[in-house]
Amino acid sequence: MLKTRDQAPVNEPERQYYFMDICSGYVKKLEEELGHKPTCCVTTFGCQMNSRDSEKLVGILEKVGYDVIEEETKADFVIYNTCTVRDNANQRVYGRLGALHHQKKKNPNMKIALCGCMMQEDAVIEKLKKSYRFVDLIFGTHNIYKFAELLTATFEEKGMVIDIWKDTDKIVEDLPVERKYFFKSGINIMFGCNNFCSYCIVPYVRGRERSRNSADIIREIENLVKEGVVEVMLLGQNVNSYGKNIEENITFAGLLKKIEAIEGLERIRFMTSHPKDLSDELIEVMKNSKKICKHLHLPMQSGSTRILKEMNRRYTKESYLELAEKIKKAIPDISLTTDIIVGFPGETHEDVNETIDVVRKVGFDNAFTFIYSKRTGTPAAAMENQVPEEIVKEEFNRVLEAVQEVSKERTGGLEGQVVDVLFEELNDHDSTMLTGRMSNNTLVHVVADKTLVGKIVPVKLIESKGFYYMGELVLQ
Ligand code: 5AD
Ligand code: SF4
Repeated sequence: MLKTRDQAPVNEPERQYYFMDICSGYVKKLEEELGHKPTCCVTTFGCQMNSRDSEKLVGILEKVGYDVIEEETKADFVIYNTCTVRDNANQRVYGRLGALHHQKKKNPNMKIALCGCMMQEDAVIEKLKKSYRFVDLIFGTHNIYKFAELLTATFEEKGMVIDIWKDTDKIVEDLPVERKYFFKSGINIMFGCNNFCSYCIVPYVRGRERSRNSADIIREIENLVKEGVVEVMLLGQNVNSYGKNIEENITFAGLLKKIEAIEGLERIRFMTSHPKDLSDELIEVMKNSKKICKHLHLPMQSGSTRILKEMNRRYTKESYLELAEKIKKAIPDISLTTDIIVGFPGETHEDVNETIDVVRKVGFDNAFTFIYSKRTGTPAAAMENQVPEEIVKEEFNRVLEAVQEVSKERTGGLEGQVVDVLFEELNDHDSTMLTGRMSNNTLVHVVADKTLVGKIVPVKLIESKGFYYMGELVLQ
């Protein structure tokens, strides 16, 4: 008997599996019409959270019968998983949608979908409704688990299907996921953010903090390890506040201890840590761990206490420096990386000097430096003293120079040492070489056979090239 929408189960994930079945029927029909298996292309903008969400989208697309391809121009279904942290990501989406419109005119069977953070903004939806009518499906960050149901709707309904939720307290487990790498995987441990840094749009588009139960996380990782995963990246906007809003009595450090005990798992990474919530317990767990990588991403945003206060970061220049010192003392070979924003409203030359001072004092291995982007609806967007673009550019270049100088010094110091490297992929430029990652996240290029991809292997660091190394296999 043909399945219909009204008979769909109410509970998740059963409901979505039901829709995957219905959707498979539509995709099969499309295949007959097209004369080939329908193809899809998923493009991800933004952070690792979005990359993980895209793996979930691909999991469902494959399950309903699409072939995943890289070339967007040949795809029958194109989806953009968008980011809105800074405005340039939004502009890129609009630009690419223009090109997609042409493509759709040539291939009327083609479907275009948009999801992710940008879709949680009312102004974006208005603009899409007005000027981008050719888009078939729009959904947001809170209902991504409903993708199968929404995709089905695009086959059953005419016109744009739009489903955006303002917030959710729901976490749906056990949907299909198609991983990009067989040996490593991101794992969501929490969703959303409660911090409301004054420049940041994330709390508005990703909603309030929700942690997953540790049992669900452990089960997911155990299954991944059975499938060959050796490294996990625990994902959350602020992993240090993991466990705060659930019944279970657990902290992030406690979760790490449980994950450490999973047999067969070799490396644990996590991001992102908010400095204000980083506990001594976490430092202790990292110090004693054999699996947690020697890398901590600790966004400082600014080195000026005055600007940090305006940003609502809830720490000072001094307390950040103290924290960095404490971490380096406990774990001397740790690599510290950070995020910096230049051009926050009211930021002066002296404020930027403070930022550069912290860069030098901490000695970051790397720092992602961003030009402040005004996000509508955030408190900072309403501040009157926005900094003129030319000044921001100059200050940005000063910070960038300092960052590059410091990180070059930091990364270079390990020549001659033998370190464990997880080989991740064939080298982009030379197919006799593999590219891998040290525990501290630095890349290493080595002449090695591709059968070593996914394996952790000792490598001698021969030559530092500034931000990466050339290495040699050590015969075991
Ligand atoms: N402008 C510039 N950078 C921003 N970030 C977040 N919001 C903004 C903004 N409005 C940066 C922060 C954060 C990183 C993910 O993005 O540095 O840590
Ligand atoms: Fe944005 Fe601050 Fe939350 Fe990070 S901690 S996502 S910068 S509001």
